[in-house]
Amino acid sequence: MGVDIEQFNPHNQAALRAWWEVGHAATADRPGRPWPLWEQSRVALPTPNPERGLTLVAAIDGREMVGAGLVVRPLRENLHTAMAFAYVRPDRIREGIGRRLVQELEVVAAGDRRTTVQSEAYLPPGGSGTGPELFARAMGYDVASRESMKELTLADFVARRDALAASAPVPDGYRVVTFDTVCPDEHLASFGRLLGLLLAEVPLGELDLQDSEWTPERIRAAEQRQVAVGRHVLTALAIAPDGSVAGASDVRVDDNDPDHGLVGITIVDPAHRGRRLGLVLKTATHDLAVAGWPDLVSVDTSNAEVNTWMNAVNEALGYRTIETLLELQKKL
Ligand SMILES: CC(C)(COP(=O)(O)OP(=O)(O)OC[C@H]1O[C@@H](n2cnc3c(N)ncnc32)[C@H](O)[C@@H]1OP(=O)(O)O)[C@@H](O)C(=O)NCCC(=O)NCCS
Repeated sequence: MGVDIEQFNPHNQAALRAWWEVGHAATADRPGRPWPLWEQSRVALPTPNPERGLTLVAAIDGREMVGAGLVVRPLRENLHTAMAFAYVRPDRIREGIGRRLVQELEVVAAGDRRTTVQSEAYLPPGGSGTGPELFARAMGYDVASRESMKELTLADFVARRDALAASAPVPDGYRVVTFDTVCPDEHLASFGRLLGLLLAEVPLGELDLQDSEWTPERIRAAEQRQVAVGRHVLTALAIAPDGSVAGASDVRVDDNDPDHGLVGITIVDPAHRGRRLGLVLKTATHDLAVAGWPDLVSVDTSNAEVNTWMNAVNEALGYRTIETLLELQKKL
């Protein structure tokens, strides 16, 4: 077959644009915002990030790009893992291009001593036996966790908002602090401690991931990278009676995509659960989004199907399931 598989530099903007077009076409039949806007990819992909290494791969037939691949290697923890994604232009599927892309992505991962490769496949809600799932199975990937992709129309949230706030008051002795991206100094160390719990506390199914340590310096550097690419991490912290950070949640809105946001993290410290802090925090972040971005139409989130508690919070806010997400994993 005359298709070449090649790595390319994300600073090569013509190649990056062709790569983006392939991913856009390969995800065009999915609901919600399955692929970033060009402006977001153009800015984010070439921007250096000490948290992760990125390799972009193209499948090229003559002068045309027909397949696109991506390997993301975490550089701070989980050094045994990499994430790999493959996209084939819809008019060129079932020709073996996806297989060749995945083989190259695994070579890149193995070359950096990664032994666990993770990926994702999206299906209609509750679906099974679809192309991406069968492709993943053919490539030797197992389903490590089933998640629901959810979308909230902000008009639905606004209609429910006052009743929600009444049903979930801020518990006695606690307070809520909100900020755009940059955490106030006084809460930074305690916020970092809570972030360190995230991977241990979020249901991950069989995903082979370990905890991370969030020092104040690491958080500050991550904040500055968000500011540099025009992303607003609208955050609410629950402050416990003793002054420690008991919970955190955020909604992210990009200056380049003012009508569509997504939820980043949500966590309540196990010692402070059962007080509806999840609902309190999420209401606060969605309030920030509505107040600051009046044109925002919708917000996306995903969580494990087994995460009953988070599902209940999202349902109360008005989120609807739009897809099933399979978290995939292969040991090389
Ligand atoms: C999934 C995707 C990458 C497959 O690309 P592709 O080039 O068609 O895949 P290949 O031709 O290399 O298929 C390899 C094997 O996967 C399986 N497979 C792939 N697509 C399939 C489908 N629609 N139905 C059944 N089996 C399928 C087959 O076993 C196939 O081998 P065979 O053709 O010899 O039977 C492509 O459909 C795509 O871009 N989808 C949207 C993005 C996506 O979901 N990516 C995967 C997650 S990152």
